[in-house]
Amino acid sequence: MADNRVVVYKGPGKVAVEDIDYPKLELPDDVVTGLGIKKAAPHAVVLRLVTTNICGSDQHMVRGRTTAPVGQTLGHEITGEVVEVGDDVLFVKPGDICSVPFNIACGRCRMCNEGKTGICLNVNPARAGAAYGYVDMGGWLGGQAEYVMVPFADFNLLRFPDRDAALAKILDLTMLSDIFPTGYHGAYTAGVTTGSTVYVAGAGPVGLAAAYSAQLLGASVVIVGDMNADRLAQAGSFGCETVDLSSGGDLADMIADIVGEPEVDAAVDAVGFEARGHGAGAAEAPATVLNDMMSVARAGAGLGIPGLYVTGDPGAVDDNAKVGQIGVRLGLGWAKSHTFATGQCPVKRYNRQLMNLILADRAHIAQAVNAVTISLDDAPRGYQEFDQGAAKKYVIDPHGMVPAA
Ligand SMILES: NC(=O)c1ccc[n+]([C@@H]2O[C@H](COP(=O)([O-])OP(=O)(O)OC[C@H]3O[C@@H](n4cnc5c(N)ncnc54)[C@H](O)[C@@H]3O)[C@@H](O)[C@H]2O)c1
Ligand SMILES: [Zn+2]
Ligand SMILES: [Zn+2]
Repeated sequence: MADNRVVVYKGPGKVAVEDIDYPKLELPDDVVTGLGIKKAAPHAVVLRLVTTNICGSDQHMVRGRTTAPVGQTLGHEITGEVVEVGDDVLFVKPGDICSVPFNIACGRCRMCNEGKTGICLNVNPARAGAAYGYVDMGGWLGGQAEYVMVPFADFNLLRFPDRDAALAKILDLTMLSDIFPTGYHGAYTAGVTTGSTVYVAGAGPVGLAAAYSAQLLGASVVIVGDMNADRLAQAGSFGCETVDLSSGGDLADMIADIVGEPEVDAAVDAVGFEARGHGAGAAEAPATVLNDMMSVARAGAGLGIPGLYVTGDPGAVDDNAKVGQIGVRLGLGWAKSHTFATGQCPVKRYNRQLMNLILADRAHIAQAVNAVTISLDDAPRGYQEFDQGAAKKYVIDPHGMVPAA
């Protein structure tokens, strides 16, 4: 019986909202057969979605730039109200409103015990780490839906302390499932601290969240680079400096014009493998951002790399890039003793503290990323506008629970 609806990938450039069964408290078949564990999931809950955001990571699939099959359900940025709890769930209750880290984690394995929830060993037979609604990530159903199942709920859910306070700030809190912790992780792992000068590549939602986080961490100057004028203006709206890479100018020179020297203390890649080269209308050149960061980050700097790189890209520019092998000038980073922080952001490492900042009115992330609310039926339009570079973060509100601004 179809009593749920979810956003589904229908082939390059296409998504649709389709009927699907109401979630069961059961693990996906891939996980059950691949890892040889029980299907029944008494540790799980069902959430009624309050908000669920569209992400640049979804766009890689929808552009046909991953091996996602047609029919892949989408959505990993989940905030919801608990409506059903399994018998082994002890600490969350029906009615709680919670943020869900996009990383699915068991809370029991070696990696989870070390706080590395982005590479949990018990949720995806194909590799370490899993996510809702994502290719190669364990076959978990997507959360751009009306309802979704969340396993290992006591471990994964971040409960908001007060329901009314949560709903009043829901457009900020919805960013805790991914981009606020991810942007923060990018800045933090790059070593941003009091007084740092920072270069953030990419002014999409993750880049804006990284830039905003760098400010929270005390950066003296945050420079955001992109070739999208609207997105650069969005970065400027909260005090960032900007560099327009479509100008074809030299990045180090543009940085020198701002900070007085051609280097920064820390750099963040918020672009990933679909990076384009510099100059108006430049073609895709996947190593551009990594090479830019090694060029402009000072010796000893940290490079935070939340931007996503894949192991399989059918739409890549050449055969090497099709397997994720790109022309990174590693010798330069090695010579400068750079450190690289890659991979999924372990959301649980940051989400509670960032929630506290939001609830204390000390972080206004929704405004920084220009959050806009749309209905579930409008998801295809949201995907299309976002793909065209709108300077917005699309937040789907499937049950009309987001209070009017
Ligand atoms: N590591 C994680 O846990 C994690 C979590 C969320 C998102 N991501 C990844 O972060 C990346 C950014 O996400 P988003 O939602 O902001 O995506 P997005 O596609 O909206 O933004 C990417 C931006 O990069 C710009 N860009 C392209 N080439 C560039 C270049 N050479 N220099 C500077 N800017 C350039 C584009 O114009 C665009 O504005 C994606 O790769 C996404 O998959 C990773
Ligand atoms: Zn995301
Ligand atoms: Zn685990």
